[in-house]
Amino acid sequence: MPPIDPQLIRADFPIFERDFGGRRLAYLDSAATSLKPRPVIDAVNDYNSRYTANVHRGIYTTGEEATAAYEAARVTAARFIGAPDHHEIVFVRNATEAINLVAYSWGRRNLRQADTIVLTELEHHANLVPWQLLSQEKDADLEFVAIDDDGRLNQQSFEVLLRTRPKLVAFTHVSNGIGTINPVKEMVAKAKAAGALVLIDGAQAVPHTAVDVVDLGCDFYVFSGHKVLGPTGSGALWARRELLEEMPPFMGGGEMIREVHLRRTTFNDVPWKFEAGTPDIAAAIGLGAALDYLTAIGMDHVRAHERALTGYALETLQEHVPDIQIYGPPSVDDRAGIVTFNLPGVHPHDVATLLDREAIAIRAGHHCTQPLHERLGETATCRASFNVYSDRDDIDRLAAGLRKVQRVFAGDGVATAPVAASR
Ligand SMILES: Cc1ncc(COP(=O)(O)O)c(C=O)c1O
Repeated sequence: MPPIDPQLIRADFPIFERDFGGRRLAYLDSAATSLKPRPVIDAVNDYNSRYTANVHRGIYTTGEEATAAYEAARVTAARFIGAPDHHEIVFVRNATEAINLVAYSWGRRNLRQADTIVLTELEHHANLVPWQLLSQEKDADLEFVAIDDDGRLNQQSFEVLLRTRPKLVAFTHVSNGIGTINPVKEMVAKAKAAGALVLIDGAQAVPHTAVDVVDLGCDFYVFSGHKVLGPTGSGALWARRELLEEMPPFMGGGEMIREVHLRRTTFNDVPWKFEAGTPDIAAAIGLGAALDYLTAIGMDHVRAHERALTGYALETLQEHVPDIQIYGPPSVDDRAGIVTFNLPGVHPHDVATLLDREAIAIRAGHHCTQPLHERLGETATCRASFNVYSDRDDIDRLAAGLRKVQRVFAGDGVATAPVAASR
């Protein structure tokens, strides 16, 4: 018995009941956002239909229920990533907001002129642009760990950069661009030995593998709820409590205060000091339901399933799609459920458009990793990414769809071919 039966799992995802021209959707864009299972949809609906109220305010039944559900989701999120204290979980809208929060709050207070932040060539724009803004403001330096040709971070390059004694090292746990799983624990140990704080972008890791922030030894860890089967508008920043205590608020307003006078304010305890205004209550509750759903499946099973599927995809595409160029690490040991590729002579937008006609959804473009694409020498790639509901049938359909694209571009049906190839 395989630990995960995607067919059974798909029964939990209403989108698979929809008919796409006589076919079930082959959703291969989970790295962009995941599909949502019924328990998540129900949790959000339940809040919206049965106990709608603001949190931390209403001294009445539904107000107390809403606060309890919102705070229970925080406990769930803490447990899911091994945070020792649920007060270390700050709810945010997404990973992008979490990184911006650290850049504005911790960064503005602690970064000085000529300090260094070390990033990598693998980063999503969310883990580049906030640091660019901060370094411009502070006249600080950004340095980048190079990648090898197979998409792994070059550890020698990292060690050389650590000699600059950076204030902060920030890198992704798993690359959304090419699927590389970075050796996070070893890299954190090296960065800490060099005296840096470490932020890990876990947007592509938390949905697919067991994460324990204490074991990793990092200082900040961020993820988005919508990639982890949860609703959009949910996500979390984890940081060690003493860091959160020292950090100034990111935004001011209601909820984040203790006392407000006309000319001064004292702030709430962490984490609420960082949650100004009415939060996305429904999304946080939905995130809790998503993490419970994954816990019931077991994250080791999730990883095993996606590892096996990735191996099958690499083999199948290489065997059945002539000339396909696949990027990223060749071994499934250091590759998450992401397969990025190109068909020579066919623009990725054309590939995606033709696959869409077969009800196959992939991502085409730079996947918010333009520097990585520059390094690969490409402006765009195709990306297929998996989740618990993905199976071999999805991969077989992808391979057959790509053969069809190749036939169209070989001259068989040119009249109906899209035209992005000229872009
Ligand atoms: C590695 C990585 N980091 C950060 C993000 C940003 O996530 P969000 O758009 O949910 O803030 C993404 C989204 O694709 C990602 O893949």
